[in-house]
Amino acid sequence: MGTKWAEAILVLCCSLLTIHVHGNNASPKAITKASLLLHRQKRPYAQSPALELASKLASSSVAASSSPLVYHVTSYGADPTGKADSTDAILGAISDALKGPGNGFLMEGIVNLGGARVDLDGGNYLISRPLQFPVAGKGNLLIHGGSLKASQDFPNDGYLIDLSPASKNGSGYNYEFVTLRDLLLDSGFRGGGIQVVDSLRTNIDNCYITRFNTTGISVQGGHETYIRYTYLGQRITAGGDPNERSFSGTAIVLSGNDNSVTEVVIFSAAVGIMILGQANLISGVHCYNKATGFGGTGIYLKTPGLTQTRIVNSYLDFTGIVAEDPVQLTISGCFFLGDAYVVLKSVKGVASGVNIVDNMFAGSDKGIDIVQLDGGFNQVDQVVIDKNSVKGMKLKATVARGSAERNGNGTTTSWIADFSSVLVFPNLIKQVQYTFITDGSSFPVHALRNVSGNKVLVQSDIEVPASVYVTADQGGHFFS
Ligand SMILES: *[C@@H]1O[C@H](CO)[C@@H](O)[C@H](O)[C@H]1NC(C)=O
Ligand SMILES: *[C@@H]1O[C@H](CO)[C@@H](O)[C@H](O)[C@H]1NC(C)=O
Ligand SMILES: *[C@@H]1O[C@H](CO)[C@@H](O)[C@H](O)[C@H]1NC(C)=O
Ligand SMILES: *[C@@H]1O[C@H](CO)[C@@H](O)[C@H](O)[C@H]1NC(C)=O
Repeated sequence: MGTKWAEAILVLCCSLLTIHVHGNNASPKAITKASLLLHRQKRPYAQSPALELASKLASSSVAASSSPLVYHVTSYGADPTGKADSTDAILGAISDALKGPGNGFLMEGIVNLGGARVDLDGGNYLISRPLQFPVAGKGNLLIHGGSLKASQDFPNDGYLIDLSPASKNGSGYNYEFVTLRDLLLDSGFRGGGIQVVDSLRTNIDNCYITRFNTTGISVQGGHETYIRYTYLGQRITAGGDPNERSFSGTAIVLSGNDNSVTEVVIFSAAVGIMILGQANLISGVHCYNKATGFGGTGIYLKTPGLTQTRIVNSYLDFTGIVAEDPVQLTISGCFFLGDAYVVLKSVKGVASGVNIVDNMFAGSDKGIDIVQLDGGFNQVDQVVIDKNSVKGMKLKATVARGSAERNGNGTTTSWIADFSSVLVFPNLIKQVQYTFITDGSSFPVHALRNVSGNKVLVQSDIEVPASVYVTADQGGHFFS
């Protein structure tokens, strides 16, 4: 009963409100539509033309508390032709958005801005200082729909959009659920594109970030910055660029945990993705930023011992992966083209919980190893490099199978299986299995006699015609 009454009152209120707004002679159908429209105006991502119109009408009085929370930068005097400096105008819109009415809290201390939107109105704006958020403690905000270009006096240590508060209140996260979408950021070879500091659940979606001199997207601290469907390149090129040798800068730096980079293309930069934090996911990324041959790196894992990184379903195109002392690293389902390879770089000599499996490698028959070591490793545990498909490069693995075939009808007492050209780690075999097959009339005693230099020696007590089949494993985990 109580619920029915509440519904009836609600319907009545809506109708009254609607009639008030749209006139007395609206038909019942029109009322229903209008009620819906009113309702939808409060929703952050509704994109109906009617809503756009409502937003436009409202933009002339953004400060009024009853208007939808859409802040059009052109209403603040931003110049969409990119001629006049629009820094102050856009900062004004961002600042007002952050000051907008709150609708409760997200994480403790993070005011829910209710899906407020800063709309770049499809313009192209000249920016001379970082668009740095003035205050911290805000969430549920969208900035979208236009291009930003750094002017010739933009500071080289700045980022066009900077989610690090100019003033910070408290020690918690700065921002939560801020979305940067449908943006083209042109740093004009001065500074970087986007910086996200100590923030939670930041989305960078469908952006094109170019001409950065330092870093395209820098994530420092915080959690769960999701970068997706985004293109990054220092120079606008589509491969085979005559200036490739001088590409510099880093497209993405992840200096924090639990971030995700998915469906991203990195088309020019010295380093594609630099990973300095744990538990980051890289998936569906195409790196053709700067060829290894010119000194570039596709993905660089530069935190020894703390990586917990998954690199899956990605395309390393003439540029490879470098991992320093990897611990819990998976590289799987990736395609390495143009002699691209993986380097395990020793800092303290630890490689643990590493899976490099089920990848494809294609090269040009120069004999380049698919996995290479830079320095020596003395702590190797649970490292599996296996089941990769290799064409035109040299297969390396931690598991190898081989045989010492019988020598015609001759007889012998020694069989050597040499794995030194296949196994990744020098002089390391943790486990050997062998099968001894003879069709001679005698029944010899045989044994594994020596494992050294990645060679396996099996011997028998008497001369027999026999073949020996051997499996050697360098890094698997074994039960004792
Ligand atoms: C770009 O960065 C390099 C150092 O990485 C610096 O030498 C150069 O001056 C920067 N370019 C500009 C325009 O500031
Ligand atoms: C910090 O936030 C509280 C609550 O919003 C406010 O009362 C206080 O003035 C703020 N302090 C500073 C330094 O901004
Ligand atoms: C091995 O011996 C068999 C018969 O015992 C003979 O037919 C065969 O030709 C021999 N093979 C070689 C390589 O000597
Ligand atoms: C095993 O082989 C290596 C290399 O040939 C040799 O130096 C070593 O002495 C051998 N070990 C034994 C126990 O025979």
